[in-house]
Amino acid sequence: MKSDDDETGDAPAGFASMTAEGAHAAAAEGADAVASAMDEGEAIDPSLAAGREKVLHAQQETAHELSPAARALAGVTAEPGVHKPDPILVADQVSRRFGGLTAVDVHRLEVQRGTITALIGPNGAGKSTFFNLVSGFDKPTSGTWSFNGRDITGMSAYRIARLGMVRTFQLTKALTRMTALENMMLGATAQRGERFLPSLLRPSWKGQEKTIEARADELLRRFNLAHMRDDFAGTMSGGQRKLLEMARAMMVDPALIMLDEPMAGVNPALTQSLLGHIQALRDEGTTIILVEHDMDVIMSISDWIICFAEGAVIAEGRPDDIRSNHAVIDAYLGARRALATDGPDGESDGGAGR
Ligand SMILES: Nc1ncnc2c1ncn2[C@@H]1O[C@H](COP(=O)(O)OP(=O)(O)OP(=O)(O)O)[C@@H](O)[C@H]1O
Ligand SMILES: [Mg+2]
Repeated sequence: MKSDDDETGDAPAGFASMTAEGAHAAAAEGADAVASAMDEGEAIDPSLAAGREKVLHAQQETAHELSPAARALAGVTAEPGVHKPDPILVADQVSRRFGGLTAVDVHRLEVQRGTITALIGPNGAGKSTFFNLVSGFDKPTSGTWSFNGRDITGMSAYRIARLGMVRTFQLTKALTRMTALENMMLGATAQRGERFLPSLLRPSWKGQEKTIEARADELLRRFNLAHMRDDFAGTMSGGQRKLLEMARAMMVDPALIMLDEPMAGVNPALTQSLLGHIQALRDEGTTIILVEHDMDVIMSISDWIICFAEGAVIAEGRPDDIRSNHAVIDAYLGARRALATDGPDGESDGGAGR
């Protein structure tokens, strides 16, 4: 957006040639794999096939101008667990098992400060569970993680929020019988935890209320929701509730915001608006971790992409690296095969605390 550098200007020569040549080779190979699956008479799930097509071919128009944050990643090798120059979030050996199922098994994951970092991967890959763990909404089977250099392993969600790391949920958590403004005001208390809600009614709260209300109004304006300020969240559209949830997360002025499928179920006009907000937040210095299935969105907005499959990080890189990555293509093909066996289940629905 701001750079007039060539996209690969700061990258090592090897990287430039890898993106140029690798894309065609992998695209050809991925297309072959689908063709051979079709020859074998396997049913192709249309949505997965479409998603895979997008991984292969998406986005000639992708991010030709890099954000400053993306440029800081120019020399970073595209491989799972790679170290970043200035990570804001670092996860080590984080695993979560549910009975016999290993939902998350991340050896090393670093998120570069100031970037839009996307987490992608097929349904059930462990993206939401990873969010739940690092944001304090679930407990890991093993592992440690740090935020801004501080160990926050096992810390509760409200304390993590107070440190400046917040998340939204795949299924929105707006309280439908409260107004938009009231939802926002609760966002400000996230750091205190819900058991402190009764303190809202105490006189000591009143002093802070004005400041918090002013901030809530400012954010409602910013997210184009000012006209719904006094409406119940239950009367808002799904897309407006997604906006409200993002606005509410911003009440604590976070350094890192984790968005779990903010675009899901949102109409195209609002999607554009959400994307604009996400980019604007990044440009102001907020780090964004985004879980999203729409490859066009991912490829156009992300500075860095991390792909999960079966709980593990199987690939990392810039959009160019990812669209030509064999492991990513295989993961989507593998998920298609699993779906063909298990029966259709477009949205896996296992996540605790979504
Ligand atoms: N509370 C739970 N109990 C048992 N299994 C769970 C629980 N939460 C998640 N899982 C399982 O863990 C795996 C990872 O799920 P998760 O929701 O993290 O995937 P995801 O990548 O977010 O998928 P999607 O893209 O569909 O949202 C899935 O197999 C899921 O069924
Ligand atoms: Mg999920």
